[in-house]
Amino acid sequence: MSLKDKNILLGVCGGIAAYKIPTLIRLLKERDANVRVLMTQAATRFVTELTLSTLSQEPVWKDIFPDSVSAKEDWTRHISMGEWADVYVIAPATANTIAKLAAGMCDDMLTASFITLRPDKPNLIFPAMDGEMFASPSVQRNLAWLSRNGCTVINPESGELASGKCGTGRMPEPETIAATIETAVTENLRRSKLQGKSLVITAGPTREKIDDVRFISNYSSGKMGFALAAAAVKRGAGVTLIAGPVHLPTPNGVDRIDVESTEEMNRAAKERYRSCDIFIGAAAVADYRPANHVAGKIKKNSNTMEIILVRNPDVLAGFSKQKKTHQLAVGFSLETAGNLDNAREKLEQKELDLVAYNTFDGITSGFEVDTNILTLIDKHSNVHELPLLSKNEAAEQMLDVIEELMSSDK
Ligand code: CTP
Repeated sequence: MSLKDKNILLGVCGGIAAYKIPTLIRLLKERDANVRVLMTQAATRFVTELTLSTLSQEPVWKDIFPDSVSAKEDWTRHISMGEWADVYVIAPATANTIAKLAAGMCDDMLTASFITLRPDKPNLIFPAMDGEMFASPSVQRNLAWLSRNGCTVINPESGELASGKCGTGRMPEPETIAATIETAVTENLRRSKLQGKSLVITAGPTREKIDDVRFISNYSSGKMGFALAAAAVKRGAGVTLIAGPVHLPTPNGVDRIDVESTEEMNRAAKERYRSCDIFIGAAAVADYRPANHVAGKIKKNSNTMEIILVRNPDVLAGFSKQKKTHQLAVGFSLETAGNLDNAREKLEQKELDLVAYNTFDGITSGFEVDTNILTLIDKHSNVHELPLLSKNEAAEQMLDVIEELMSSDK
């Protein structure tokens, strides 16, 4: 294993274990890595800036605001650090900095660069502190949050601590940290097949206007499409998310286009048909729209009312019909339980490569819930039955199947 030419961003916080960092930097440099160090103010009390800068052969950065501005880079260094890094290692990570990272604070170069790290890059957090501090509910809560949100937290070791007590809180030795970094970088390099691919994902409902104050729509929350978008970005894909009206934050690194009607969704999608490698139709698209949109507000002049509806374009099928051999079309098929054959029909009719059949019971699967039970059927008739999963986990497993399909089609 080697770290040759890998860019390692090293965040150092103010804990006694910072005395091990000069040795760590030497080990990383011996493996031909490029190392840049970001220190908190507190870290400078334990190890000097001059030491770390001499060993890394790079300036050390602390404050987010530059002392003087000589280049444009000086204003945006916290962004370029995140872009530069192949891996971001925070060692030792103190309780205070861990709390800031979990809260999304960015009041120094170390924390601000953490926020700008590209989602497909690994980060390693090495907490080191007194045993009681490490076990405290707040530290554990913050570490659990970071773990759930894409960070790799390496638990400290047990042994003698600076307080003279024994407990869990010791930072691993530099050799162990260097080996962990090598593993993380190598694993990340075992690239996902989605790395560099361009994905278009539709998500959420569409709204079809009846008049200026009313519309036809459905209960889709957009959660499944947003989960797919977030998971694909983490695998290094470029993702355009064409979203109907939903109340969800844009996942990190995703290019989001908000639309309202099916025709708007169709227009936005068509513009991207050619450049896209994989099109996933996760939107619950309204199949019909009112033939006439009435300006203003319709008054209730009679006991009954007729609205003539006309068929909407099929966004996903539109993509499939023109797709080239290297492109994949993936759709969803929401059916009442047991209607797997309808999903198979959809796969054929819409010329899909993969269809995700899901039922709706409103409790474990369906529009507004956080879990889903999917059965994936590919164009070779392979069936993958996924268990009850969170929509995030279902998205990961669906992308695994898409990657398998990409390999088998080669
Ligand atoms: N889809 C689309 N554009 C439409 C309709 C559907 O892109 N106008 C996509 C959806 O995003 C989904 C799949 O096609 O991936 C679902 O197909 P659809 O035929 O709408 O499924 P159902 O609504 O379940 O079909 P039906 O109404 O016939 O039960």
